[in-house]
Amino acid sequence: MFSRHICLSSTIFLSVYFLGVQDDEDVKRMLQGSSMVKVRSPRWQKRRTLKLLEDGVTVWCQSHKTSSRAKEQQSFSVMEVECIREGCQSEMLRQMVGSVPEGRCLTVVFKGPRKSLDLLCQSQEEAQHWVRGIRTLQERVDNMTQKEKLDQYPISSDQNHDDKMSYEEVQTLLQMINIDLSDQYARSLFQKCDQSADGRLDHGEIEVFCRELLRRPEIDAVFIRYSANGCVLSTVDLRDFFMDQGEDASLIHAQSVILTYELNEWAQRNQFMTPNGFTMYMLSKENCVFNPEHARVYQDMKHSLAHYFISSSHNTYLTKDQLTGESSTEPYIRALNHSCRCVELDCWDGDKGEPIIYHGHTLTSKVPFVEVIETINEYAFKASPYPLILSLENHCSVEQQTVMARHLRSILGDKLLTKPVSDLDPHKLPSPEELKFKILVKGKKERVVEECSSSSSDLSSSDEEASSVGLVNNNSVSSQPGASKLSPELSELVVYTQSVPFKSFEQAAKNPATDMSSFSESDALRYIKDSGMYFVRHNSHQLSRIYPSGQRLQSSNYNPQEMWNGGCQIVALNFQTPGEQMDLNHGRFLQNGQCGYILKPPFMCRPDTTFNPENVGGGPAHSPVLLTVRVISAQQLPKPEWDKPSSIVDPQVWVEIHGVPIDNIKKKTHHVDNNGFNPRWDCTFNFTVHVPDLALVRFMVEDHDYTSSNDFLGQYTLPFTSLRTGYRHVRLLKVDGSSLSPSSLFIHIKVISLSTLQLYPHSVHILWKRTVLLQTCKQ
Ligand SMILES: *[C@@H]1O[C@H](CO)[C@@H](O)[C@H](O)[C@H]1NC(C)=O
Ligand SMILES: *[C@@H]1O[C@H](CO)[C@@H](O)[C@H](O)[C@H]1NC(C)=O
Ligand SMILES: *[C@@H]1O[C@H](CO)[C@@H](O)[C@H](O)[C@H]1NC(C)=O
Ligand SMILES: *[C@@H]1O[C@H](CO)[C@@H](O)[C@H](O)[C@H]1NC(C)=O
Repeated sequence: MFSRHICLSSTIFLSVYFLGVQDDEDVKRMLQGSSMVKVRSPRWQKRRTLKLLEDGVTVWCQSHKTSSRAKEQQSFSVMEVECIREGCQSEMLRQMVGSVPEGRCLTVVFKGPRKSLDLLCQSQEEAQHWVRGIRTLQERVDNMTQKEKLDQYPISSDQNHDDKMSYEEVQTLLQMINIDLSDQYARSLFQKCDQSADGRLDHGEIEVFCRELLRRPEIDAVFIRYSANGCVLSTVDLRDFFMDQGEDASLIHAQSVILTYELNEWAQRNQFMTPNGFTMYMLSKENCVFNPEHARVYQDMKHSLAHYFISSSHNTYLTKDQLTGESSTEPYIRALNHSCRCVELDCWDGDKGEPIIYHGHTLTSKVPFVEVIETINEYAFKASPYPLILSLENHCSVEQQTVMARHLRSILGDKLLTKPVSDLDPHKLPSPEELKFKILVKGKKERVVEECSSSSSDLSSSDEEASSVGLVNNNSVSSQPGASKLSPELSELVVYTQSVPFKSFEQAAKNPATDMSSFSESDALRYIKDSGMYFVRHNSHQLSRIYPSGQRLQSSNYNPQEMWNGGCQIVALNFQTPGEQMDLNHGRFLQNGQCGYILKPPFMCRPDTTFNPENVGGGPAHSPVLLTVRVISAQQLPKPEWDKPSSIVDPQVWVEIHGVPIDNIKKKTHHVDNNGFNPRWDCTFNFTVHVPDLALVRFMVEDHDYTSSNDFLGQYTLPFTSLRTGYRHVRLLKVDGSSLSPSSLFIHIKVISLSTLQLYPHSVHILWKRTVLLQTCKQ
């Protein structure tokens, strides 16, 4: 399954000229090539020449050895680069601070599991050229419109560089952009465009050919429906269109859209929109299916922490599976950069009195505690200002716990929360707002007054599945001498997030809100099924952390939606394992500015709520809507890279609702044979969504396979409440959550409330207008 990670973006072949960066000083240096040292460890350091190819996206790393066995020749595409870090900012380079000049170091971090590339340049200037150059190229490629990209395709297919393309070269081009035109059609289109009739297309003719290919009849059909005269859209036509879309239907908005997207000067001057301008608008980010209002922090951040879903990672230190995977600081950076707000640290006694982090009793490699804390210190608030929780799985002796406490204090400094927020009740949970830029330690705390002697057995190390991974047959941790004792220094750092074993809902209700418990996925599911309402009530008061079963040796994930249905906040997933469950997690936390905290719906925050996810009928959460999704078409779907290069995809689309049990459903289109370029379905699906506040909508595109299982091509998941109605493009993501641009779906969305005959979810005034309009909207 990991082969899916391999970057799918290399279908884009550009050139430095068409990126317009041929005069960029940094890019010029990259084209000339630079000699660098690739660093894999303090001992493994090899000289390499890095060189940007003329395509403007591929970087070759050439070995200097000539023997074929030693000849290591690798490449990467700048599209695969997640980010580039200057100085000693990787785990490996950090170890070497002092022995290498920091200004000459850089790290290339890739999307997906590919290992980072640590490099040492010959001068600081050279390092700067590469850092800036790669960023420039990425920005340029990202910035190009779909049309621009398509316009570039022919250039690299022009293998003999005579600025003209033969029919064979055009065929290569078609394969490259993933379209299988019947030979007959391709030939006739070719001949139609070949004005000079010399069997070759010049630059202008190629443009016509591409324009013909890029035609979007389904967008033209929308255009025609709204155009009063059938030729252009007036501002009034456009306003009517925006009304049906359910967005700002003012003439001013219509005018500003014309100003931004209309390319024809005459039309722009006269406030008209041509079909081309309309297509440009429809393809723009502005017309995306995700409500742009939700791209910023828009929710009330002043509720108790228990009223939020909190993006959480399990075994954060692991890069792969939990038996043999490597432990590293890198996954902390990735998780924190994706606004994860609760990371896990499995701490064990290490050599020379320094605690280490790894998966106990397994072959996973070890990483020093101090390094992880330094990394957390650096990245904690880069992506979100809201509080970060460190979930400590503490297996250390008292001595090393004290070392942990010392490191936490000295490295994190003011960021570390060491006492309750002043002026607040210390037994209540503060809000994300009150804890901004604070790091909280979650762990066991000595109860000085109440339970001093009686609870010593509760102070045993881990509240989790320490040994259930199977390599040891007995959990001997708590019987180790010293392991069941808690260092007072560490205990002192636990303020609001005190781990306690869960006994019963009755017992927990009597305890302060600052207590919290961890549940294995199976325990949590049992509580949700058997006593859903009580669990939801419990979770309006205290935090619950859910963790994957220890039996998931491959670090697979459980379905987080079931846990959110029960109001659980800290639903910890293996961030290193991509797939549907992580797609749901990304989708859940896409809104509210991707800050890692999502306010739960009101019916989950009331202590006396009667909401039960297993039985929502007529309850407080029940506000059913009819969601109608028309899957119209897709654009430029990738072909699975591991397939034979000549294969063409047979795409089909799934539309899925993930929510409370009665809302869960998946529907799929038929597959379209041999067309990843512009497949068309026009399939309409109805969904009744009973609890829209908890639902996620997932669009997933697969390559249909007659003989084996279907291949994943791309997906996009978003909260139902962040969905915009009308004609929209859905920008697909790869399996690792990164962009699959320019692949997209073209859809139409309609939402009608079934409980009040009003439209969901805007204010009454607008509702009335839109209800009328949508009723007249012909499908
Ligand atoms: C964090 O992610 C953003 C995109 O989400 C990316 O631009 C940035 O380079 C990443 N930073 C690090 C340090 O990984
Ligand atoms: C990207 O596009 C924007 C808007 O068209 C432009 O202002 C910006 O300069 C472009 N950036 C690059 C690197 O081309
Ligand atoms: C665990 O250890 C105890 C005592 O050391 C022993 O009696 C028991 O059989 C062991 N359990 C397993 C599953 O090995
Ligand atoms: C969807 O529901 C609407 C309204 O009830 C109905 O008119 C339409 O026929 C349904 N479409 C499908 C494909 O079921």
